Amino acid sequence: MNKPTILTGDRTTGPLHIGHYAGSLANRLRFQDSHEQFLLLADTQALTDNAHDPAKVQRNVVEVALDYLAVGIDPDRCTICVQSHLPALAELTMLYLNFVTVARLERNPTIKDEIRARGFGRDIPAGFLCYPAAQAADITAFKATIVPVGADQAPLIEQTNEIVRRINATAGHDVLPEAQAIIPKAGRLPGIDGKAKMSKSGGNAIPLSASPDEIRSAVRAMFTDPNHLRVEDPGRVEGNVVFTYLDAFDPDQDELAELKAQYKRGGLGDGKIKARLETILQNLIAPIRARRAAFSKDRAYVLKVIKDGTERARQRTEETKRDVVNGLGLFQL
Ligand code: TRP
Repeated sequence: MNKPTILTGDRTTGPLHIGHYAGSLANRLRFQDSHEQFLLLADTQALTDNAHDPAKVQRNVVEVALDYLAVGIDPDRCTICVQSHLPALAELTMLYLNFVTVARLERNPTIKDEIRARGFGRDIPAGFLCYPAAQAADITAFKATIVPVGADQAPLIEQTNEIVRRINATAGHDVLPEAQAIIPKAGRLPGIDGKAKMSKSGGNAIPLSASPDEIRSAVRAMFTDPNHLRVEDPGRVEGNVVFTYLDAFDPDQDELAELKAQYKRGGLGDGKIKARLETILQNLIAPIRARRAAFSKDRAYVLKVIKDGTERARQRTEETKRDVVNGLGLFQL
């Protein structure tokens, strides 16, 4: 009675924010009992666009692990592990790179967007262009069939499955399973300024470790409908960040539907909807912040969680590497 396996990961470039929560962490929490789950601290992938600052990548391994523990990921049920300490992931990446073309990597919509956003121009780090193959290694090394991610990651799962099919076709049997992305229906959370992506570097994120004051001022600064000047004016719900966040976090979606209708008709002020959102976010983040503070006082415990998890993950990923090497019929001594 094997439980299905989940693998997800996060680049260790900074503490996680509520966009990560809505996009993936909430789903991971839901699956803790029903699935075998691995969470990857993706420090090697973080280097693909942060090679100039390895210290940041290193520092944030523990920060992201703290976020996992703070939101309620239970290390007795989930395995938290570090990418750079799992050599099989790098070895599988090298093999997979032969099952994908440069043209296909360049066509990957996520990669295209990210290249544009980072302003690489013609100076794209090779590791960055190729990270979809590395992410395929991450997912398949655990033989994961479920990958809860934000909508922006869907093309990476698609590309993973293409690599899986090529490897299986070459091997002549199913060495690796295909994986399915689980994407929240609320869609990707924009930044508080309404920009498409919430990111720490963009200064438009609400971290999971935000203080009550930070939450309050973030909600106050939130982009709504610039034409909704007086309470009695009809307002727009689409593209209104406050409503997008309420879609993702409001526990009472029926009441939210009524509020939206009222906002569209006119007669509902931004102050009211912002107050509602602020309460919801304060309630969401307060226990996370408290647990984070407690865990960060016990660094030795956090390091032990990471170490034990990485050890378990090493066994699993080495096994898969052997399966792939055998499946492809590579030389063995
Ligand atoms: N690309 C993911 C991100 O930017 C992080 C990641 C690395 C990941 N390996 C993964 C996500 C495997 C899902 C599965 O957040």
